[in-house]
Amino acid sequence: MKIFETENDIKDNRLNAKGLSLIPTMGNLHEGHLSLIKAAKNYNNKTIVSIYINPLQFGPNEDFKNYPRTEASDIKKLKKIDCDYAFIPQDNFAKELKLIKAPSISKKLCGKNRPGHFDGVLTIINKIFSVILPSYAFFGLKDYQQFILIREFTKNYFPGIKIIGLPIIREKDGLAMSSRNNLLTRDERKIAPNIYESLKWIKNNRREFSITELVKISSEKLERNNIQIDYLGIFDKQSLKEAKNFEEGALIAIAAKLGKVRLIDNIILDKN
Ligand code: PAF
Repeated sequence: MKIFETENDIKDNRLNAKGLSLIPTMGNLHEGHLSLIKAAKNYNNKTIVSIYINPLQFGPNEDFKNYPRTEASDIKKLKKIDCDYAFIPQDNFAKELKLIKAPSISKKLCGKNRPGHFDGVLTIINKIFSVILPSYAFFGLKDYQQFILIREFTKNYFPGIKIIGLPIIREKDGLAMSSRNNLLTRDERKIAPNIYESLKWIKNNRREFSITELVKISSEKLERNNIQIDYLGIFDKQSLKEAKNFEEGALIAIAAKLGKVRLIDNIILDKN
């Protein structure tokens, strides 16, 4: 696997000449990332993974400093899975970038308590896309709001890049895979599966109760387990508007904190 550290390196090697599939990541690679890479490899292109912990998407009181940094083991995993290229730029990659302002949908869900987060995501994606210019870019649907913002941004500014969203990969006990799971204490890790349980419970009981009741009952249960909810609700898949019934909304989504660690998860209903 060839590793690139600068944008000039990539440009000089004309990687995109024959079609490229890109998986942008912040490292600390887990099965969720590997599933994206495996899917990308089926597209008959060369595959490139970028690893960059983007300071622009972390708020002042967030976990940028503690975010797991595991470059050596990430590289090993990429070699093992036969990834063609990695792009691992220096820390100063995010300096002096053209700032992208995310559209108003970014103010909903995660954006409510993370002002500027999606501006930071789109700013770095704009930069990574313009350096690599892939044909395809792959994202996990755990970060659903990020996925729809990037898809819309790409449609407008990089029409040649196709965005592919792929399902959430879970631990055996249902917890959605995330690099942040590594920051949980042992006790927090034990209670974390309640997050997915609450989404499944809402899905399975959606004909029994109103949305208000569903959200109230599951919020109370989560809070009894010391899980603090940032948001929990049913939303329209495109506009992310809060839904009043399951005809209006098909995205059941949550963000919650266990101690200092903020986790997100969702279920998308195919059919009512
Ligand atoms: O989902 C992530 O890991 C990050 O938000 C991304 C898309 C790599 C941008 O930094």
